[in-house]
Order: sequence, then C-alpha cells, then structure tokens
Amino acid sequence: MNITQSRSWAALAQHRDQILRRPVRDLFAADPARFDRLSLRLDDLLLDFSKQHLTAETVKLLVDLANERGLADGIARMAAGEQINFTERRAALHVALRAEREYRVAGRSVTLEVQASLQRVLELAETIRRGELKGATGAPIRHVVNLGIGGSDLGPRMANRALAAHAADTPRVDYVANIDPAELAAVLRHAKPEQTLFILSSKSFGTQETLENARAARAWLAAALGSEQAAGAHFYAVSNNLKAAAEFGIDPARCFELPEWVGGRFSMWSAIGLPLACSIGAAGFRALLAGARDMDEHFLAAPFEHNLPVMMGLIGLWNIDFLGADSLAVLPYSSGLAELPDYLQQLEMESNGKRVDREGQPVPVQTAPILWGGPGTVGQHAYHQLLYQGTRRVAIDFVVPVGAAGVAQEALVGNALAQSAALMLGKTEDEARRELLARGMAEDEAARLAPHVVCPGNQPSSTVLFPALTPRALGRLIALYEHKVYVQGWIWGINCFDQYGVELGKQMARALATAGAAEAGMDGSTAGLMRAVRAMRG
Ligand code: F6P
Repeated sequence: MNITQSRSWAALAQHRDQILRRPVRDLFAADPARFDRLSLRLDDLLLDFSKQHLTAETVKLLVDLANERGLADGIARMAAGEQINFTERRAALHVALRAEREYRVAGRSVTLEVQASLQRVLELAETIRRGELKGATGAPIRHVVNLGIGGSDLGPRMANRALAAHAADTPRVDYVANIDPAELAAVLRHAKPEQTLFILSSKSFGTQETLENARAARAWLAAALGSEQAAGAHFYAVSNNLKAAAEFGIDPARCFELPEWVGGRFSMWSAIGLPLACSIGAAGFRALLAGARDMDEHFLAAPFEHNLPVMMGLIGLWNIDFLGADSLAVLPYSSGLAELPDYLQQLEMESNGKRVDREGQPVPVQTAPILWGGPGTVGQHAYHQLLYQGTRRVAIDFVVPVGAAGVAQEALVGNALAQSAALMLGKTEDEARRELLARGMAEDEAARLAPHVVCPGNQPSSTVLFPALTPRALGRLIALYEHKVYVQGWIWGINCFDQYGVELGKQMARALATAGAAEAGMDGSTAGLMRAVRAMRG
C-alpha cells in the first residue's frame, strides 16, 4: 500500500500541523520531564531527542506507523537471513559478523565461516603488528596500504582515525581510494617497497579505481623488488570474487573471502576491517564487534518506543517527510570522528537514495536525507551560520564522546551542548532588541538591527553522548546508524542493499574510456568537453 494512504500517515500529517504551532522551547516549558521522556539509553550510550520538534504523542504515532508498515516483520526477516535485498535476491546479514549466537542464510549456518575468517584476519593482523610478516626480501612489513573505495575503504578508514589513540606502536596504515594517481603517489612517497603490504579490498573485484591503483602499486613494487613474483609477496586481497583475484595474480592463500550476504557499506566488521585490525589489534577489533553486538541485541529485542535505532529511524523520517528537513548534518564533536560524515554518506545515501518500492512503484515521499557534516567546533566557524539564520530546516545529529576532564575537552563538549541549545531556542526579535539596548545601542538603531539578529530556532537535533571514543563505543555507534538506515528503508518500502544507480555512471565512464564521446553516443556537452580535454592535453 502507498505509504501516504496509511491511517498512521494521515494521523501524523494532522498532528504535524498542530505541533508546528508550538516552538520547541514552549514544549520544554510545558513538560519539565521532557528530557527523561524523550531520551533513551543503551548502557552508557545516551540518545537524547528531546530537542526534536515532537512530543510523546508524535512518538506514539510514529510507532503506529512502524507497526502499520510491519517493521517487526522486517527486523525478523533480516535476522532470519531472508532475502531482504530483494532485487539481488540476497540476505543482508552483517549482524552475523559480530554475533555470538548462530545465524543462518538459506537454512545454512554461517557461524563457522564467520569465526574462521575472523580468526585468520586477527592472526594476520597480529603477525604484522609483531613485525613477523616478512616481504620478498625478508624485511618485516611495517606499512599497510589499503586499496579500496566506498564500502571497501570508508569504514576502516573512519574507524582507524577514530581509534588512533588505541593504536600505539603499530605499523603505519594508509588508505588509497581515488583513481587520481596523486593519492597513491602521496602514500608511496613515504613507503619503503620491501616493508610495504597492500591489501586489495574489493567485494566485486571489478572496481576500476581499486584495480588501477593495485596495478600501479604492483608496478612500483616490481620495479623496486625485481619481479612481479616478488611483488606478489606484498599483496593480500579481500573479495567475494576469488576467481578474479586469482586471475589478477593474487595467490589464493593470500585471499579472504567476503560473503555475498555482506553488503559493501556494511562490511567493516568483516575481513574488510583487516587494515583496521592491523592498527588496533585483535583485542581492539573484538571490542569493536562487541559494541556492534550490543546494539544488535538491543535492536532485535527492545520495544519500538525504547529501541534506539528504531526511534532514530522514525525521527529521521518525521523530519524528512513531515517537517521538510531533508538534509541531515552529522556533527561529531571529536576530531577523531572527522570522517564519520563521509562514512555515513555512503551508508545512508547509497542505501536509501532510492525512488521505487518492492513492487517497482514510485515512493510518493522523500527518502534518504542529504547527509553532510564535519567535526565541531570547526564547522561552527563555517556553515553553522546557515543553520542559525538560513532559510532551511536542517536536522542535526550531535555526536559527542564526553572524554576525560580537562579545559579544552570541557570546552569542546560545552560547545556541542551550547550549539544544540542555541539552534533549538533561537532568539526572538524582542530578545534581540533588548540585548542590543543592554549593550548601549540607541532605540532606533536597535530596532533597525534586531531583525538581522533574530534566529528562528527550532532546528531539530538529537545528541548521541557516550563516555569515550573506545572501540566498543564506536561499534555501538556505527551499528546504531546501520539499523536506523534499515528501519527507514523498510518503512519507505525500498531496498537498502542494492545500488543500481551507481552503475550508470560506471558504464558511461567505461564507454568514454574505450571509445570517444561521440562514438559512445554521448550528448553534445560531453562530446564538447572531450574535445576540450584532448586540446588541453595537446
Ligand atoms: O560504486 C558503488 C560501489 O559498488 C559500492 O557499493 C561499493 O562499496 C564500492 O562501489 C566498492 O565496490 P567493491 O568493493 O566491489 O570494489
């Protein structure tokens, strides 16, 4: 059924009209227990959504929507290993990668293969960390370079930076994603061939960027070590396509198989996490998995109104489809989490940037948010002005590891809380005028300036707060977003796990590379640009 024709959708639309008449600051004034009512905890992780433009009644209506759309069934089907990736007819069972209980795909237990792969990954990581993995010359590997893009890059890259404090005295780990040769060159400038190991990470083993970088890395190794065979001792691969990896020349004994039922953007818990494991070690990686497992168990069991991923998904949907906030700013107050927005861009926008439902019918409402963001406090001096006084309603997630006491850390956390408060409370014209008068400004000048100082407030935000940026806390945080994405996708009726759209650009890039623009049947603009490219190259 068309989502907008459901009973709960109509109730939410009606409710929206009432609630928008009341600023969030008034909702706080009317309900002293609002924070307690509208915040949830999983152990020491707190999700506060009391600054969202909603009430307990909204929560109830959103839960009605989830029930009407059969979310419990969606969650059960995921956990049962059913083909929730309904276009590609695959399961999406990333929860199995961090589970202690058994999961099955098509009736077959995946527990043993998951455990065996994890064991191998962690053993290799520890061997490298101890300096016991030797390259072709017998020198120990001290530098690991991951070659991958999208889901084969963003997760371990983000986590590597986030958990840098947990990676003392370990091999250097770098990530190269772009086909722009400058990115690989910048890493190789600091690399010694005899001590460098490349991890070729590609689920499909068909991604142009990754394969091109791998060829360039192999040529660089071969030139320094004397042969392609020697270069082979400096490669491992992680892929679902082991045949292609072997054809590329990777020794099968140096390959990790990524199961088909793990989507690329949900894969950092698998062997795709190998470079991260080299950095944070087996104990750190296991703690990361334990954190994700905490969130999985909670997601599978908690009633919807107490379920963090479910509530996060429903609130996101409320913001997008009822309040018109179709942009989500993720603002981690932690430079370690600087790459969290990049990671979440793929997770949310590649998963739910879809327009038709299971039956191939257009979804009549907006789907994935336009996700962007960056670390606070840096963004306060760049884009926060738009959040305060621009014309758009923008939803915000403040992600705040509290950290140890200390002047700078307290200022960091204080800024996060102050920003969320100020963006919610805003400043009325009367408050602005009185403030200007208090500063000694003349009455007419204060009246002239006041409208420019007004901040409408009501920017809806949630705050995710936890004591420290540990592997376990990061695991919980990322699994929270993973499940949130699934909740939203299920309710919209779209498939979170395919990405056919991306294929169009890839096909055209291939056609352009092998033929000219005109030959490839390109439009006039692209043909003109191709001519200009050729001319500029002389
Ligand atoms: O182009 C999109 C995409 O297919 C992502 O979904 C994926 O994470 C990325 O490319 C990399 O793909 P692969 O791991 O197969 O190289």
